[in-house]
Amino acid sequence: MLLEPDKAGCHLFFQPKESTMQKHVIAGCLTALLMFSITSIALAGDMPGPDATAVRKYITKVSPYTKWSYWPDHKGMQKGRAPHGPFHKVFVNKKSLNSAKPPVQYGSMIVKENYSPKKELKIITVMYKVKGYNPKDGDWFWAKYGTDGTAMKVGKPKGCIGCHGTRSANDFVVVHEFK
Ligand code: HEC
Repeated sequence: MLLEPDKAGCHLFFQPKESTMQKHVIAGCLTALLMFSITSIALAGDMPGPDATAVRKYITKVSPYTKWSYWPDHKGMQKGRAPHGPFHKVFVNKKSLNSAKPPVQYGSMIVKENYSPKKELKIITVMYKVKGYNPKDGDWFWAKYGTDGTAMKVGKPKGCIGCHGTRSANDFVVVHEFK
């Protein structure tokens, strides 16, 4: 029996004596399936969910934050205030950088490296704008990690939101002024 391509679908079961045509249909189906899977994974994998492990993997492996930009008005090592420590660097992804006015675009991510008085890296804090995650407080996902990647505070911590909330008119962002 010859399989007609339109009726063939993606049958994975076939007779031992399948024709060349059948083999081609099956091979074609499998290739299409593979391409579809790769594309879906690539698209879905583009931005992480609001999850400490996924976000950490994203900023270290998928899109290393050290290759991102600084805000134009806050470049390189800067002096900081409590509670984050005396020195810091703030890295921003393209979506944040391209956000001319608050609120920033969904998918914006801000990563802050927090340094000790001796300028040793101690803590990494993250703000990530996720649609529908926490609408009443700017839809920010918050995370604080040790340098070994241990998540110390994650999600919607009252502390982070309470203090950054004094800057809600600037979409909770402290170091950069949207003009
Ligand atoms: C008591 C106030 C306060 C609390 C609590 C606080 N922050 Fe901040 N945050 C600041 C200040 C002030 C800055 C500006 C940079 C600096 O001085 O270190 C800042 C900057 C940041 C930035 C850089 C982006 C920006 O807003 O400029 C991130 C990311 C950040 N904080 C994350 C967090 C996370 C995550 C938490 C909770 C675990 C948190 N912050 C808790 C005051 C606070």
